[in-house]
Amino acid sequence: MSDFVKYSIQDRVAVLTIDNPPVNALAQGVWEAVDQAVARAGADPEADAIVLIGAGTTFVAGADINVFKTLKTREQSLERSARTHALLKRLEDVGKPLVAAIHGNALGGGLELAQACHYRVATADAKVGQPEVLLGIIPGAGGTQRLPRLCGAELALQMATDGKPVAAPKAKAAGIIDEIVDGDLLKGAIAFARSRAGDHGIRKTREVALDANASRAGVEACQRLRSSFKAPKGVRAPFAVIDGVEAAMTLPFEQGSLRERELFADCVVSTESKALRHLFFAERDAAKVPDVPKDTPAGDIKCAAVVGAGTMGGGIAMSYANAGIPVLLKEVDDVALQRGLATIRKNYESSVAKGRLTQQAYERTMGLITPTTSYDGFAGVDIVVEAVFENMDLKKKTFAELGAVTRPDCVLASNTSTLDIDEFAQSSGRPGQVIGHHFFSPANIMKLLEIVRGRETSKSVVATSVKLGKRLAKVPVVVGNCFGFVANRMLAYYMREAYLLLEEGATVPQIDRVLTDFGLPVGPYGMQDIAGIDVGARIRQYLASIGKTRAEGPQSEVPDRLFEMGRYGQKTGAGWYKYEAGSRERIPDPLIDQLAAEAAAKRGIARRRIDDDEILARITTALANEGARVLEDGYASRAGDIDVIYCYGFGFPRHRGGPMFYAETVGLKTVLSRVEEYRARFGDYWEPAPLLERMVAEGKGFYDGAA
Ligand code: 3HC
Ligand code: NAI
Repeated sequence: MSDFVKYSIQDRVAVLTIDNPPVNALAQGVWEAVDQAVARAGADPEADAIVLIGAGTTFVAGADINVFKTLKTREQSLERSARTHALLKRLEDVGKPLVAAIHGNALGGGLELAQACHYRVATADAKVGQPEVLLGIIPGAGGTQRLPRLCGAELALQMATDGKPVAAPKAKAAGIIDEIVDGDLLKGAIAFARSRAGDHGIRKTREVALDANASRAGVEACQRLRSSFKAPKGVRAPFAVIDGVEAAMTLPFEQGSLRERELFADCVVSTESKALRHLFFAERDAAKVPDVPKDTPAGDIKCAAVVGAGTMGGGIAMSYANAGIPVLLKEVDDVALQRGLATIRKNYESSVAKGRLTQQAYERTMGLITPTTSYDGFAGVDIVVEAVFENMDLKKKTFAELGAVTRPDCVLASNTSTLDIDEFAQSSGRPGQVIGHHFFSPANIMKLLEIVRGRETSKSVVATSVKLGKRLAKVPVVVGNCFGFVANRMLAYYMREAYLLLEEGATVPQIDRVLTDFGLPVGPYGMQDIAGIDVGARIRQYLASIGKTRAEGPQSEVPDRLFEMGRYGQKTGAGWYKYEAGSRERIPDPLIDQLAAEAAAKRGIARRRIDDDEILARITTALANEGARVLEDGYASRAGDIDVIYCYGFGFPRHRGGPMFYAETVGLKTVLSRVEEYRARFGDYWEPAPLLERMVAEGKGFYDGAA
């Protein structure tokens, strides 16, 4: 018998324990081991019933995602899922009651395995879900056919198209779970299995008949969702899910299953799925820092402080409180403090009004934020996050004060977006404890956390920050200390190309449309109108004052002209677009074209019609070329880190895998030849990144074939 499944008999019930740490994923060999163990139990005269349970902290988190990489063709995928379907049918046909006992998660293939059991019992805190869509695939082990037979089409569609897990009590009410077990799960599952022993206890999900009314309602639900489902352009998997569930409503189980296999096979070989699977692992890898070993001591953050209760400080304090960490929130005076607290309250109250937070949870969370105008209590905190104005002298002064009022082991984090961490780290007297925690606005919502390592930041402070980032429900990515770090450094190249395209003859609505057609939620100009044109302009002013620019080469003057005109974006009613009072609808403004034409004339550029393909190619090539430089300079550890940063920071379409992954799908050779072509056409600011040149010369990719 395989090590993946342990076999024992308790009270005349065969207990099969799936044991494949850390999440009991159904890797090569695990499916087969379950198959063999169930067959053994079926034939075992000592067993009247069977319980299938997971070892460790969870039931089964799904098929092993690595396996999909080995399915290179549609035919391979069809063949593999046909085998899985047959296997699950064998389990269902075992002649003794088969009960899945669920704790932790039953996700994807894990839930499908449970669906093929005759019953499912679960702990109250367990969750069940079909998250395949988040990997660009559909449930491929019978889930589109069995789940709607258990809970109806509506919930099955919801679960498999949004990918969000459902808590056990809701799953029980819906018919997915048969019983919630209080106390010891295994004991409860054995008792349940014994109560079903005997032939009458076998109930095959695949044989649940759908009556004509249920089928009709199911088909209607599929049609409604198909026409209303909101997904970025080019995303296919949720629609394949709907097709699969519709097949369950209209076809017998066998034919529906065949349809599922075909849909699954189409998805698994798609670029969408490769991209999303890449991001799944990239996100987890980003938390691993090559020279910070796994066993590096990472401190526990039990209480925190935030300095500055403005836009960012308030959101950061909320993130801590949301994670249950008490936080002191310091401001310069009571007026600023009350202003900051009012914004925090308003945010929470809006969540309460929308039903996302109970009044009780709001009060409990708000109670974790202690406002202050002094450093009293700072000696007791494990971390301080500084979020004062973006000014080097002020940061230096603040870090000097923090160095004096905190314990030597306290982490001193800064939320600076542009300043050199190494410069103000010295002022604290403890540069080893200083690190950047670059949150994105709104900090309580945005998931990206760039963890910026200074020259002297200690490894344990890095490890503590990564662990803390996860606890704050962020996606932490460790980056180096260059101007703009990784996110904003890349953004500068993205925006610069958008500005130059505008000067050359493209229009603001056209450029934005090309990027939203590509899958971004909002184009570069719409985004800047939200973030504020003044923010970038002030950064350029600061850089000019120290003799630098953000991206070398030509700079468009148009954004600075808008800044001078007080057109900061939505907040002033005009920016790249015009806005009517109280409305966010973007109204194109002919003035922009006029400003662009003036700027082009000054630079001696003959304006021309620019087609959509050129816009997309130039903007994405600019990102990939700069990304290659970031990588080569060592400011990001892996291409995947850049992908994670750009997807979470700026909404790069996940189904394209991030800017570096997308470049690979275009082909690095093509990307390089574009850079060379643009250099010839537009000037030397287009300079191929040496890493890109090397990779093309050596026939290598950013991921060493990981895609
Ligand atoms: N396959 C392979 N590896 C997996 C995995 C899976 N299904 N699920 C998790 N892992 C790995 C992670 O990569 C990570 O590895 P690492 O330690 O080397 O980085 C480790 O398990 C722990 O995972 P997390 O760091 O994510 O741990 P958390 O405790 O934060 O989360 C979880 C646990 C909620 C189970 C989360 O891992 C998760 O959501 N997993 C994916 C679930 C999923 O998508 N299942 C569907 C798979 S596709 C499928 O089943 C198709 C089927 O229809 C045929
Ligand atoms: P803000 O102007 O909204 O808030 C700054 C707050 O700091 C003010 O309320 C001010 O009273 C307070 N403050 C100043 N000196 C202080 C002191 N000595 N002690 C306590 N409080 C003090 O600024 P914002 O936007 O929140 O920015 C803060 C930091 O976050 C800056 O470093 C900025 O670059 C960075 N950042 C800003 C982002 C944004 O989108 N706004 C995004 C990411 C980082």
